[in-house]
Amino acid sequence: MTRLRLAILVSGRGSNMQALLDAAQADGYPARPTLVLSNRPDALALDLAAKHGIATCAVDHKVYGKDREAFERNMDKALKQADIEVIALAGFMRVLTPWFVREWSGRMINIHPSLLPKYPGLNTHQRAIDAGDTYAGCSVHWVTESVDEGAIIDQAEVAIAADETAVSLAKKILPIEHTLYPRALAKACTEIIV
Ligand code: GRF
Repeated sequence: MTRLRLAILVSGRGSNMQALLDAAQADGYPARPTLVLSNRPDALALDLAAKHGIATCAVDHKVYGKDREAFERNMDKALKQADIEVIALAGFMRVLTPWFVREWSGRMINIHPSLLPKYPGLNTHQRAIDAGDTYAGCSVHWVTESVDEGAIIDQAEVAIAADETAVSLAKKILPIEHTLYPRALAKACTEIIV
């Protein structure tokens, strides 16, 4: 079976990246982690990836100022040089331009800590609590030009307790992200034609 060449795009601690790297060690997993790329040269995720022997690359968005496309053209170059076939955004904290999204259309997925279509964007846990929701969770979706609005690949949910805080809810949701993301990536790979 062909394993798709996977790039994981990160900005921070990389716990979801770690979950994908772990899952990809299983026989028959349909993606091969090939490159971890960060927009922050100091991201902890880059060190973790290097310890796994995965190639890493930093494209510092600050160098390009307001020219988002120049930043993305450099990311795109690194991704194409590594022959990447599928991209998983894992805590990648830059909004992508329509140009980059179109370039990787149907090959790029994201994990978001809410039960989409509820609460796209930031502060998802507090917004779920403030709305009086009894369930929260996380979603993996295809990346499209509208932020957090692409078709949902898979979701997982947890109950919100009466005394829940945004911090306690984030702690509950993160481990379910770590099981959801590898499962959803495997599913997405079946829909990508090389
Ligand atoms: C996760 O909660 C993910 O859902 C969101 O950003 C966070 C990244 O955490 N998109 P980590 O870097 O994977 O630990």
